[in-house]
Amino acid sequence: MTENLEATSMRDLLCGGVDLTMIGERLSVCGWVAKRREHGEHLAFLDVRDHSGIVQAVVDGSVDVRSEYVVRVTGTVSLRPEGTLNDRLATGEVELTDCVVEILSSAEPVPFQIDERTEVDEQVRLKYRYLDVRRERMQRNLRLRARINSTLRRAMERQGFCEVETPLLWAPTPEGAREFVVPSRLHPGEFYVLPQSPQIAKQLLMVGGFDRYFQIARCLRDEDLRADRQFEFTQLDVEASFVSQEDIFAFVAEAVLDAAEAVTGERPGAIATMTWAEALARFGTDKPDLRFAMELQDLSESFAATEVKAFAAPTVKGLRVPGGGEFTRSRLDALTDQAKALGAKGLAWFRVTADGLDSPLARFLNDEETHAVRSLDDAQVGDLVLVVADEYALASKVLGALRLTIGAPPVSEGPHRYVWITEFPLFEGVDEDGNLVSAHHPFTMPHLDDLDLIDSDPLRVRSQSYDLVLNGWELGSGSVRIHRADIQSRIFSALGISEEEAQNRFGFLLGAFKFGAPPHAGFAFGIDRLVAILAGEDNIREVIAFPKTQSGTDLMTSAPKDITERQRRELRLRTLPKA
Ligand code: AMO
Repeated sequence: MTENLEATSMRDLLCGGVDLTMIGERLSVCGWVAKRREHGEHLAFLDVRDHSGIVQAVVDGSVDVRSEYVVRVTGTVSLRPEGTLNDRLATGEVELTDCVVEILSSAEPVPFQIDERTEVDEQVRLKYRYLDVRRERMQRNLRLRARINSTLRRAMERQGFCEVETPLLWAPTPEGAREFVVPSRLHPGEFYVLPQSPQIAKQLLMVGGFDRYFQIARCLRDEDLRADRQFEFTQLDVEASFVSQEDIFAFVAEAVLDAAEAVTGERPGAIATMTWAEALARFGTDKPDLRFAMELQDLSESFAATEVKAFAAPTVKGLRVPGGGEFTRSRLDALTDQAKALGAKGLAWFRVTADGLDSPLARFLNDEETHAVRSLDDAQVGDLVLVVADEYALASKVLGALRLTIGAPPVSEGPHRYVWITEFPLFEGVDEDGNLVSAHHPFTMPHLDDLDLIDSDPLRVRSQSYDLVLNGWELGSGSVRIHRADIQSRIFSALGISEEEAQNRFGFLLGAFKFGAPPHAGFAFGIDRLVAILAGEDNIREVIAFPKTQSGTDLMTSAPKDITERQRRELRLRTLPKA
């Protein structure tokens, strides 16, 4: 037998490894009984499974094992009799005969079949996650995740990055998500915060001369859960000194493309770059899904002097839907409802027919407007044109969302289209108190050409921040950081953060910057998201061993749950009655 690394003191090899080259050898495998079939009165066939596959063992009918018993089977590798070969199994030409079966552990009937054919409700899968991960899908996904992690780690190390672990018990960071807090026993009434990301720690490591840091880092955020969001998730977190945005792109792309290649066998091409302004204009979002065309078009000029009230707005945008002329009225109503839910006053639709435009609004358009809609994006008979008139940002956002509803395939469906989005605005708006709000975080370096706009027209200030987008999901983001105290003060004051508050919240970082801060920049991307898409899954729960449900509970451990009275006393915590 060829030497193999799976051999242990209990087994010679994995079940899936038994093959024709071993005919006549006597060997042992260990695993779970996947299936038992009686064969006449005296014989039974056992399918013995481990993570590598299944091997058939022919055993005495008196052997008392049932599904999911854990067994050690020692038998002779034999050719299966003619007519009994199973070409669906890698080991389908052989079987183990003259078997001795040792029961290592018995099993009660399991709540669901451990195979790929049975559809199991996700709640049940999560309650019995240890059984669910025994199945092929979760085995495949978690092993793929491990391979991606190790590929990422190697890519970063090859580029001279050093992995540093940063604390989980930490102080608030400025990313803006709600934080999980941990009461301190030794300092009653005081709390640690679980890090939303290692953002400040990694910047401190730059001050500390680490030059190139990375970490496969657990991050925690108490936010509403969705297909691409969990409370706990993992980032490939990166920071480097004496670099530009382009250097960061190169480091990160090397790692991401290595991971993609390790999974698909093919290295994606170089990752294109698009500015935030272009993404918004063409796709109505900062996370453009480039797998399909359907770009937004600007109709503002043709509608500049419109007499139709519905179109009298600063921006009129249109979207051509190829073949959309066949949409039913109820589908058009659903799209209209979606547009309104997103804040639009309404949605105008026009079917392109051989006789002109078919729409309740068609007769109100003048010739120029009719022509603009009719020829939008080279529209053809049978197409549909959707039009939204509003402020620029809203009209773009609404049509961008409709574009996805109509055209986007599931996120995991190929091809994989990566794109860097650059030049995000520095501020994303103004809060209730009239203070500007950072689009990324307050340490993001403004575009140096726009410094003068900080006071005069702050919403036009571009930042040196960037996102990596894959199939319409934000994979990650990062920025060049502010390392100059004068620029940092200007930004804090624009954000309405007083000198005192800045000291209070980030004093340790600002203090560190006084002792020689190198110019630095960084990035972090969500490993869960990358793995999900590469694994062909549309929800990150499918690539996490023990995830939380949408409502934030762990069905297996029942967490979150109460603590004991004693723990409460030690922590000096009292719980208010449920509201
Ligand atoms: P950001 O907050 O954009 O940036 O996060 C980076 C990436 O982390 C992933 N991510 C999540 N994944 C799963 N569940 C979540 N709840 C979740 N939240 C975020 C996303 C996201 O793009 N410190 C900065 C990075 C930097 O500037 O270097 C940061 O954390 O894929």
